[in-house]
Amino acid sequence: MKKIITVCLLILILINVIKIPTALAAEMTQGAELFQIHCVGCHANGGNIVRRGKNLKIETLERNKLDSVEAIAYLVKNGKNNMSAYQERLTEIEIEKVSAYVLEEAKNAWHSEGMMSKVKSFWDSLFNQDISRKN
Ligand code: HEC
Repeated sequence: MKKIITVCLLILILINVIKIPTALAAEMTQGAELFQIHCVGCHANGGNIVRRGKNLKIETLERNKLDSVEAIAYLVKNGKNNMSAYQERLTEIEIEKVSAYVLEEAKNAWHSEGMMSKVKSFWDSLFNQDISRKN
């Protein structure tokens, strides 16, 4: 009886361990895709080809009080100076996803060792498939 309970508990834990990164990875993958479509033209690698000083590095975001998903989402939604507003091109949810992606990448200095790639390699190691191909 004890063994059965232990096995059930282990299965439950396993299900949760798999489920959480999957949901998270899906969110981040969408954010990454949106960024590739709408933002990378000006903000490749977290830079800014129009106004170099207004880049997406974490120090800059912090200095400009843009180090939260809400603040980034507000800017993306309404635009600012040479950056146009995205509220007619993206849904609220898409804006939130792309903003979360920007903040996450900024925190990881825009290199590939972000949470996204950690989650992704965890997933890859489990199922040996590339989730970024889906959706
Ligand atoms: C046409 C070029 C262009 C595109 C495309 C663009 N941006 Fe920008 N972005 C800018 C410019 C210019 C600024 C500086 C605005 C200002 O004067 O404060 C900026 C500023 C920002 C900032 C604030 C940076 C800071 O440190 O103050 C964020 C965050 C940002 N953009 C995110 C995005 C996201 C997310 C997208 C895609 C949905 C995007 N941008 C698309 C040109 C662009």
